[in-house]
Amino acid sequence: MLTLGIESSCDETAAALVDESGLVHADVVRSQVALHAPYGGIVPELASRDHVRAITLVIREALARAGKSFDALEGIAVTARPGLSGALLVGVQAAKGLAWARGLPIVAVDHLVGHLLAVFLRRPAAASASTAHPRPEEKTLAYPFVALLASGGHTAIYRVDGPDLDQIRELGATRDDAAGEAFDKVAKVIGLGYPGGPLVDRLAAQGNADRFPIPPPMARRDSLEFSFSGVKSFVARHVAEHGKPATDADIADLCAGFQRTVVGSLVTKTVRAARSEGVTSVVLAGGVAANRELRKTAAEACAAAGLALHVPPMASCTDNAAMIAYAGALRLARGESDDLSFGTATRTALSRVTRKGGGPRTRAR
Ligand code: KG4
Ligand code: ZN
Repeated sequence: MLTLGIESSCDETAAALVDESGLVHADVVRSQVALHAPYGGIVPELASRDHVRAITLVIREALARAGKSFDALEGIAVTARPGLSGALLVGVQAAKGLAWARGLPIVAVDHLVGHLLAVFLRRPAAASASTAHPRPEEKTLAYPFVALLASGGHTAIYRVDGPDLDQIRELGATRDDAAGEAFDKVAKVIGLGYPGGPLVDRLAAQGNADRFPIPPPMARRDSLEFSFSGVKSFVARHVAEHGKPATDADIADLCAGFQRTVVGSLVTKTVRAARSEGVTSVVLAGGVAANRELRKTAAEACAAAGLALHVPPMASCTDNAAMIAYAGALRLARGESDDLSFGTATRTALSRVTRKGGGPRTRAR
C-alpha cells in the first residue's frame, strides 16, 4: 500500500512515501528553523504561511526521489492532530485535495501515534548510516512495549499494545513543560539560540555536570509523571542571580547539569514503567530521543534492567512524514479510510491520564 504521508503540524513541512511494511521509499523534510530562529521560538502564523509555500514542492520532491508518479500512489495519510491549527490545516487541505482529485483513500493520523510507530520504519542503508546505535530492524521489536515520547510539544510514557489508538495507553505525562520545550527555553535563557535541544546536547558533552547539580523533579518513587518547569526555573534563577555564563566552560557545565537531570528523570521513569507493565522492550521516540546522553543513559539502564532498547535513527525521531505515512498505511492496508469531512484538532486523540498544571505538585525541585 504505497502511501503518501503529509506532515505540517508544527515547523516542518514534510512528505514521504512509505508502504505498510515500513519501507521508506522517500522522505523529504523541509525545516522552518531559520524562519523562526530570529524570534527564539515558533511563530504560528509564519509557520502556516510557509507551509502553504512549501507543501506542493515538498510533495513533488518526495515523488521525484522515489521515482514515482501520482499514479503509483495507493493512499494518503496526513497529520490531523495535535499541532498548530493553521499549520495542520495546510497539510490536511493539500491531502484532501489530492485524495479527491486522484480518487484515493485518505486517513487522518495522530502525530503522536506516528512518533510511537516511527521505530518500525525501515530506511535504506544510506539514510540511516549516521546512526551510532543498532538500527531497529536489526533487533525484532514486538508488541507490547513501553515507549518514552519526548518532543517539543509532548512528553509522556505509553504502553503500546498495537498500532491503533485504543491500543496505546498513557501511563504518565508531563504536568507542565515538555522535555524539548525545557531544552529550548534553557538554551534561550543561556543565550544559545533556537532550537536549543541539539545545541545543549553538543555543549553538555564537554561539560562537568557535577558543577551544577540540579535536583531531580517529581522524584516520588511511584509517579510516572514528569515536571520540567522546576529544572528550567533553576537555570533561569541561576542566570538571573549570576548573569549569563561567560566562558565556554561555564556554558558547557550548566548545559551538562541541566541535561543530566532531565535525562535522569526521563530514563528512571521509563524503566520503572517498563518493569511495572511487565514488558521486555522499551522504545524512545520524539525529537528529544535524538539526544545522545538520553540514548546512552537509556541503553545502560535498560541493559541493567534486562530490557531491550529500541531507538530509531535520528531522522525517524524528529518530525517527519514517513512515520505519518506508515501509521496511515497500516490502516489503509486493512481497507480502512476516513471520510473527507474529518477536521483538525490541537490535542491528541490518545487517552490522557495526567492532569496538566493543576493538582498537588510533588516537590517540583
Ligand atoms: O519531535 P520534534 O521534532 O517536534 C515536535 O513534535 O515537537 O521535537 C522537537 C524538539 C525540540 O524541542 C528540540 O529542541 C528537541 O526536540 N531536540 C532535542 C535534540 N534534538 C531535537 N533535544 C535534546 N537533544 C537533542 N539532540
Ligand atoms: Zn513531533
